[in-house]
Amino acid sequence: MNILVTGGAGYVGSTLVPMLLGEGNRVRVLDSLLHGGGSLLGVWANPGFEFQLGDVRDRDAVRKALLGIDAVVHLAAIVGDPACARQPELAREVNLDASLTLLEDSKRAGVSRFVFASTCSNYGKMSDPESYVDETSELRPVSLYAETKVAIEQAMLESNGAMCKTPLRFATVFGVSPRMRFDLTVNEFTLDLLTKKHLVVFGEQFWRPYIHVRDVARAICLVLASPENAVQGEVFNVGDTTENYQKLQLVDLMRPYAPDAKVEFVRREEDPRDYRVCFTKINHRLGFDVSLTVRNGIEEVAWLVKHGVISDFDAPAYRN
Ligand SMILES: NC(=O)c1ccc[n+]([C@@H]2O[C@H](COP(=O)([O-])OP(=O)(O)OC[C@H]3O[C@@H](n4cnc5c(N)ncnc54)[C@H](O)[C@@H]3O)[C@@H](O)[C@H]2O)c1
Repeated sequence: MNILVTGGAGYVGSTLVPMLLGEGNRVRVLDSLLHGGGSLLGVWANPGFEFQLGDVRDRDAVRKALLGIDAVVHLAAIVGDPACARQPELAREVNLDASLTLLEDSKRAGVSRFVFASTCSNYGKMSDPESYVDETSELRPVSLYAETKVAIEQAMLESNGAMCKTPLRFATVFGVSPRMRFDLTVNEFTLDLLTKKHLVVFGEQFWRPYIHVRDVARAICLVLASPENAVQGEVFNVGDTTENYQKLQLVDLMRPYAPDAKVEFVRREEDPRDYRVCFTKINHRLGFDVSLTVRNGIEEVAWLVKHGVISDFDAPAYRN
């Protein structure tokens, strides 16, 4: 398959691209390199790999990138609540306007599959913290970031035509990737405990689901390889129901790696990101299981830090 991955130099993309190449696909990445492109050097020499430097807001660049493409995996975005809040106009242009145009241009270009990176943040705060939300639950986006994701999901589900469209709602991602991110909860907490010996946790009681970056990439590969009638117009949460954690539970799992570190808990009564998610649909319909847990991710990040594989932890390139 000829696959276009937008945002392929990012945290998820740089793990996904080698996986797709390994399955014998040809992969073109369209990325504006907001956080650099070193993450793709490992695949640079692969004959199936092609890089196009460009912005998804540039329609000519997008049309060029779509030439000869069978499937689009749309990852490019201003990612996360803080980044979108800092640059709301840019976030709307990239996450909303450019994504809508990409969807339309992909249809016109005869692309057969369109996979969209959405988020479990779309669920917002749960009214009943004891229950689990699933793909049929009401969406209550509480940030611009989630609002833009909900809008694109809706446009995909309402759009007609032969293109097979699949929005994937990822849990919060963790783990090691060629483009490392240390602004994601599991990675950030592990780093702070090991290097600063000090961690401040806001709202330790709040729940969220987590997934390893390699499992996100595996899920995307699985969706691309699944029969169209199993994934067309279907939203899937991507994660594992047993991998919902309160922040306090995360800290408990990390403590053995830094027993001398000081942890401060700051009580918060309200957090819009308080939800537990059910992931049985992707398991039952597509047979997806995660291969790595939060426990594995903590171990992996701790190893990276302890062995000096990365030492410039504070570099802006590791944070959105
Ligand atoms: N990381 C998570 O926890 C998480 C969770 C749920 C959903 N997602 C979604 O997964 C996708 C990938 O996330 P990530 O963590 O890899 O983020 P990331 O910030 O590491 O990667 C985003 C990539 O998009 C590129 N990009 C941004 N604006 C662009 C533009 N205008 N034109 C072209 N390229 C542009 C960036 O250069 C970067 O390489 C995003 O759509 C994100 O919303 C991520």
